[in-house]
Amino acid sequence: TIKAAVFASGAGSNFEAIMEANDLKCKISLLVCDKPGALVIDKAARYGIPTLVFNPKEYGSKSEYEEMIHRHLQHYGISWIFLAGYMRLIGDTLLNEYESKILNIHPSLLPFFPGKDAIGQAYDAGARETGVSIHYVDAGMDTGPVIAQESVMIEENDTKEKLKERIQKVEHQLYPTVINQVLSNKVR
Ligand code: GAR
Repeated sequence: TIKAAVFASGAGSNFEAIMEANDLKCKISLLVCDKPGALVIDKAARYGIPTLVFNPKEYGSKSEYEEMIHRHLQHYGISWIFLAGYMRLIGDTLLNEYESKILNIHPSLLPFFPGKDAIGQAYDAGARETGVSIHYVDAGMDTGPVIAQESVMIEENDTKEKLKERIQKVEHQLYPTVINQVLSNKVR
């Protein structure tokens, strides 16, 4: 079986959606979290998933903590990484070790609204349409080749909260689907 790690920093709703997916074509063997106290850590505990929590501030450089992470990934035999609300750029260490094996989900139609609070960015800009993107990760912020996108309309009387709910519903369905497509080589 293919073993994968999820990297997350926050609430972990996408982590949960991946865990709950039927016939996922890999085993989620590790959660990596850079935010001690994040809700996603409790979620992983409930699923009995080993969890690596680290505080980036305790390391001299990104390559130092990525080398530490890499040792754990090797220990668990991880061959794929799925970023699910991991709010940190991936550095050379992991990009080199996991070339074309790192996916990210982002709540906008990239290249529009990269970075933090993409839902709020689209809403505040008065966009009529936004959505969800899943892409291969490179050194940039929410850049890298897009694999799949699904659009979500912003309604006349929308609120950020309602929009976020609809976007996350799309995320939770799209991420496991795309993971399975990528793992079964159905993506160019
Ligand atoms: C998700 O909406 C994800 O797309 C976004 O963070 C949220 C995490 O929610 N990621 C980014 O903005 C990446 N730039 P979750 O912790 O409930 O899965």
